[in-house]
Amino acid sequence: TKRQAISAEPTALDPAQLTHVTLTNYSKSEVSLRADPNRALLENDFMKHLEQGQIQTIVDCMPPTRLAQGCCVLQEGDNGSLVYVLEEGKVEVTKGGQKLCTMDPGKVFGELAVLYNCTRTATVTDRQGFQTIMMSNGLIKHFQYMEFVRSVPSFQSLPEDILSKVADVLEETHYSEGDYIIRQGATGDTFFIISEGQVKVTQQKSSNENPEFLTTLTSGDWFGEQALKGSFMHLIGGLDDVNSRQNESDELKAKLEAEAGFFSSVS
Ligand code: CMP
Repeated sequence: TKRQAISAEPTALDPAQLTHVTLTNYSKSEVSLRADPNRALLENDFMKHLEQGQIQTIVDCMPPTRLAQGCCVLQEGDNGSLVYVLEEGKVEVTKGGQKLCTMDPGKVFGELAVLYNCTRTATVTDRQGFQTIMMSNGLIKHFQYMEFVRSVPSFQSLPEDILSKVADVLEETHYSEGDYIIRQGATGDTFFIISEGQVKVTQQKSSNENPEFLTTLTSGDWFGEQALKGSFMHLIGGLDDVNSRQNESDELKAKLEAEAGFFSSVS
């Protein structure tokens, strides 16, 4: 089985080393999508899972751009790392010289190359006073990681702001069948969440015995937490309890608050 995991390096919890997505606020005109951000983003497959507050954050930090009439915004076959939301005007989408459609304000385009890591599937040309707001790759990655952390069963009770901070420190790693991810006895410095595939957990009781099979872990399971620093252990301990003691709401609330406090102290 091809293994794939997303790892969160505990060293990244050091406030000095945290690599957050930088959100710059760009003011928009009165007619901008800010007034009705749902209109464009909620219609789009990629964005429709986002909540109102997240959509507002995205719209607020998308830089506005105005281009001359008739210019080519995206060229079929080019590499691209930006997604656009058409604020004003009209754009025409063509493929191999054939017109596919005309887009009106509120439409999202340029998302396919970014989502599927392919070259631009069509050419987009300005037709009438084009103005868009654009979303950077880093922000898109962040929202993809948010979808992933929301899907992890142990994380489902956690508030959005904590999930967002977990998403900030995720890194994606791929493993091949038979690779060792963690060796017994080695210093642990990584917490893993499995996004795809399976891993086998074994333990060697003594040096003259063969490793003993303990369990198989699969998508949504996590491991590597035991050797982490105290602060991160606190978070994971809290998550474990969130799963097993959902009825003890006061205790749970206190844990979630403690976790929120921990994360706000490192942000
Ligand atoms: P992307 O491939 O990144 O760049 C060109 C964009 O044109 C593409 O993303 C879509 O947003 C858009 N596009 C491609 N094919 C079509 C189509 N058949 N109808 C409407 N829009 C399209």
